[in-house]
Amino acid sequence: MSTGNQGGTTLLELQQVGRTYRLGDVRLEALAALDLAIAPGEFVAFTGPSGSGKSTLCHLLGLLDLPTAGRIFLSGEDTATLDENRRAEIRNRRIGFVFQDFSLVPVLSALENVQLPLHLRRTPPADSRRRAAEALAAVGLAGSANQRPSQLSGGQQQRVALARGLVTEAEILIADEPTANLDSASAYAVLGLMRRLNTERGTTVLLATHDARLLEGVGRRVELRDGRLVADRRGGAP
Ligand SMILES: Nc1ncnc2c1ncn2[C@@H]1O[C@H](COP(=O)(O)OP(=O)(O)OP(=O)(O)O)[C@@H](O)[C@H]1O
Ligand SMILES: [Mg+2]
Repeated sequence: MSTGNQGGTTLLELQQVGRTYRLGDVRLEALAALDLAIAPGEFVAFTGPSGSGKSTLCHLLGLLDLPTAGRIFLSGEDTATLDENRRAEIRNRRIGFVFQDFSLVPVLSALENVQLPLHLRRTPPADSRRRAAEALAAVGLAGSANQRPSQLSGGQQQRVALARGLVTEAEILIADEPTANLDSASAYAVLGLMRRLNTERGTTVLLATHDARLLEGVGRRVELRDGRLVADRRGGAP
């Protein structure tokens, strides 16, 4: 009972996906009955108020978490059939993440932070240094390679995190509130980079945000409310 897989062109397909959290006796439905199909190369924004389920959805799409109901297919493969090792391998190989809290390692330089996902893939050090330097240059931080996170502004740290998310040139970039706490100029710079990845490299970009500044011109907006999909709009550029 495939719902959205037209001729095998679906990258990610969710069928009746739900995620329930249990807190003692209380059950909290963070996501419910979600049907969604994402094609390769799409730029999709997930919007909705705080608590609507955006981060939960990002974690599920990135195979960081498992649904408690329904199925998630990645390139036609039912992800429920994958063990944790295989899911980790897919995350390393195919998915780049950018999270709101940056999660940079404080004792490492900006360059070393960006190299981390390449280390996970056992990229030779000389190669990983070169690619990390390129990624830092792409986010406008070539001059800050040797600085530690604490020596950078919030916007610069966010761009380091973005460089780390894109350095592997993964086919899917998942960004959860990547511009929270950023001034407008930095927010637009981060969005511009994601747009370029999408248009120039064909990276599928999945962006959770309630930052209205970022939504202008985004190709597709999926709106959540109380864990349910309430709108799925495709719009052109402004
Ligand atoms: N680990 C958890 N344990 C229990 N409940 C959780 C957990 N993570 C999220 N929730 C709950 O699930 C619901 C959806 O949370 P989620 O973080 O996905 O929302 P969000 O749309 O990302 O919100 P925000 O815009 O504030 O980031 C909320 O009610 C939240 O309290
Ligand atoms: Mg969130």
